[in-house]
Amino acid sequence: MKSKILVTGAAGYIGSIASEMLLEEGYEVLAVDDLSTGHMEAIPPNIPFFNTNIGNTASVEKIFKENKIDIVLHFAGAALVEESMRDPLKYFDINFCQAQNLLDVMIRFNVKKIVFSSTCATYGIPKPDDIPIKEETQTKPINPYGESKLAFEKALAWYKQNHNLDYIALRYFNVAGASKKHGENHNPETHLIPLVIRAANNKNYELSVYGNDYPTKDGTAIRDYIHVADLIHAHIRALEILITNKKHEIIYNIGYGHGYSVLEIVNSAKEVLKKDIQYKLCKRRPGDPPVLIADSSKIRKDLNWQPKHDDIREIIMSASNFIK
Ligand SMILES: NC(=O)c1ccc[n+]([C@@H]2O[C@H](COP(=O)([O-])OP(=O)(O)OC[C@H]3O[C@@H](n4cnc5c(N)ncnc54)[C@H](O)[C@@H]3O)[C@@H](O)[C@H]2O)c1
Repeated sequence: MKSKILVTGAAGYIGSIASEMLLEEGYEVLAVDDLSTGHMEAIPPNIPFFNTNIGNTASVEKIFKENKIDIVLHFAGAALVEESMRDPLKYFDINFCQAQNLLDVMIRFNVKKIVFSSTCATYGIPKPDDIPIKEETQTKPINPYGESKLAFEKALAWYKQNHNLDYIALRYFNVAGASKKHGENHNPETHLIPLVIRAANNKNYELSVYGNDYPTKDGTAIRDYIHVADLIHAHIRALEILITNKKHEIIYNIGYGHGYSVLEIVNSAKEVLKKDIQYKLCKRRPGDPPVLIADSSKIRKDLNWQPKHDDIREIIMSASNFIK
């Protein structure tokens, strides 16, 4: 029998697609979300849904008491870098304190396996020699978002030592694209690909390109975009490793190992969508690293992760089909 998985953040972009793909793979899924940034309609119908904040001890305990959960996929979190600069404590509250409440309840109910959504924001601004970024690269976050995620990674390591918790933290690079049913629906939207699509669909919307004086081929910042379906396959590999008690590392980068500049994304979108895209060049945003590219050799080898959608045109097209 396939495992019973608690998906936190199941109404969000990545959590909803994870729930959809886990159900397709035959797993039993329970969804948790407080709908703070997620959408009720993104939760697959006919699965148990618990509308609660993961910091609410009584509600989270009730879920674990009434259901025999095998493993938790923890996507719930606050994930806006700019907001985290304005309201750092919100980020420590949600991404650390509330997540710690979830861990404490898990331990009390003897559920000791979790896959955690971490981020390349834990690395801060890597030195040029550190690109592509390995897991061992120094972590030096430059915003409360990255700091709160790194703090939780550290907490996980102590729970492993003191409570025998088994976990994998996946440090995502830039997640993009959509499944047939679900995709990105953030408000405000801060991610490049949905904004490029917005500019393609709306002549009155001008895309802001932050910085054209970076030390890159066209001066704009380079990121490693990973299709959300490949990201979820990595989670499925991670949970299989945990469920079968196989040996693994605790932290894995997840990206394709190559990147695209902002202008390359704009040009690819123009080609794929066959539409013009208006943009304006703006000053760099403080704290935006010039280049973030993952060295993902570890996850490919250890978890036998084999991405199938490493094609920026496919990523843009899938995101556009969802937005239509
Ligand atoms: N999207 C990316 O490119 C990216 C990159 C790196 C890491 N991540 C991480 O992946 C995870 C999912 O990201 P996303 O883009 O799907 O974000 P999202 O905002 O679309 O989804 C997050 C979900 O968590 C829910 N949530 C937030 N706080 C909660 C709480 N305290 N209790 C219960 N539910 C809560 C929200 O309502 C939302 O449905 C986040 O943890 C984020 O930090 C995302």
